[in-house]
Parts: sequence; structure tokens; C-alpha cells
Amino acid sequence: MAPFERVVRLGAAAAAAALVLLAGGCTALDNGLAEVPFLSFMQKSPAPPPYGMPRPAPPGSIPYASPAGEVFPELQPTEVSLQAFAASHTNPVPMTDSAALKAGAALFNRYCYVCHGPQAKGDGPILNQPLSKDPTMQSGRFPFAPNLTLPITVARPDGYIFAIMTVGRGLMPEYGSKIPAPERWMVVNYLRTLQRAAAPAAPAAAPAPAAAPLTR
Ligand code: HEC
Repeated sequence: MAPFERVVRLGAAAAAAALVLLAGGCTALDNGLAEVPFLSFMQKSPAPPPYGMPRPAPPGSIPYASPAGEVFPELQPTEVSLQAFAASHTNPVPMTDSAALKAGAALFNRYCYVCHGPQAKGDGPILNQPLSKDPTMQSGRFPFAPNLTLPITVARPDGYIFAIMTVGRGLMPEYGSKIPAPERWMVVNYLRTLQRAAAPAAPAAAPAPAAAPLTR
């Protein structure tokens, strides 16, 4: 074979090999290049797995804290923590402050009504109430929210209710990042008025005078 002919044949073979490589969708070539750090484009991006743990935002980059600036780092959604908080914090907003009661009512209706209901009786519109006569109440999404006018909640100290609003508990979400601390006390006060309306005969906070015969 003449040397010229050999060169032509070799060239043809090389061209054929290159064509086979390219026709393969370039993946082999691409992957090969990706192994070289400065030729790696998107193949090696640091993509997290779809359901991987999200990376927390750097501290201070998102204003989670209440706009009032009050934080209670010691508070946890556990019975012990809620009780301890209640024992050391009293409600600074007097029940006689009618503007505060009005604000508390507005906040209750905005945040709590959906689950606990307009009168806090545990019958909010998003609850699933299959036995309700009202068909719109039969397809609710939320399983349950307690009646807050029952004696167990009536007997809770204001600080306990405030604390549960602050950190949530179980299925109940937290409102510490949504309702500023002073307003949370106002919601407690409004809840007290609903509890009184639901059970006018319930023992008041002050000791009741000796029972007198009922006369009308
Ligand atoms: C998404 C539904 C939902 C919303 C909204 C909601 N709650 Fe609750 N709440 C619950 C559930 C569920 C529980 C029961 C939690 C548990 O069993 O630990 C609960 C429990 C409570 C309790 C404890 C009752 C007790 O005596 O143990 C209080 C007090 C309370 N909520 C007040 C509020 C207030 C005030 C708001 C508005 C700021 C509110 N909730 C908004 C669902 C909700």
C-alpha cells in the first residue's frame, strides 16, 4: 500500500470514530470533559436532593422576631415550659381597657376564629364536621380545635394562654411571630370575655360572696 493511501485510510477511520462519538448524543464526551474541573459546567452543580433538608437562612437575614422586639427564648411548646412561663408572667393589660379588648377581638377574629370558632367553642369554619347540618361545614380540612370556654381552659392562667399562642402546641400553630406580644395579651382578655359569656355562672377570678338564695 502506498504511503499516501495509508494516510487517507487512517484519516477516514479517525473521522468515522469522531462521528460515532458525536452521534452518541455527546454524553460520553460531555462526561469526559466534566471530569476536568475547569471544563465542568452544570453537571457538577451543588443541587440539593429534592426532599433534602433545607439549609437554614443565615442568622439575622430574615426578621422572624415579633415586631415588638420581645422574645421569650425560654419558652417551649411543652407543658412544663408553658406552666413555668405562666407562673412568672402576669397579664399587663387590664380587663378594663376597652380599646385593648376591641383590638383583642379583631385579632381573635382574624387568627383564632377559623379553628376555635366565633365564640371560641371549638367550631371554626375550617374544621371537618361531618355531622354538621350545614353542608359547607362537612368538608373542612382541619381535624379538631378545642372548645376554649370549657372549665379546663377557663382555669388556665393568662400567662399559659399567652404562652400557647406564642409557641403553639401540637396541631395548633404558633402566633408568636404573627401577633406582637402586647396584642397577644389583648387576645387573652378578649378570650376571657367569651368564656364569661359562655358560662356566666362560672366562678369569677375573685372569690364569690357567700351564696344567697336566688330571688326574682
Ligand atoms: C389551625 C387551627 C388553630 C388556630 C388557628 C388556633 N388554634 Fe388554638 N388550638 C388548636 C388545636 C388543635 C389545639 C389543641 C392543641 C393540643 O392539643 O395540644 C389548640 C389549643 C389551644 C389552647 C389550649 C386549650 C387548653 O386549655 O389546653 C388555647 C388557649 C388556644 N388554642 C388558643 C388559641 C388562640 C388564642 C388562637 C388565636 C391566636 C388560636 N388558638 C388559634 C388549633 C388552632
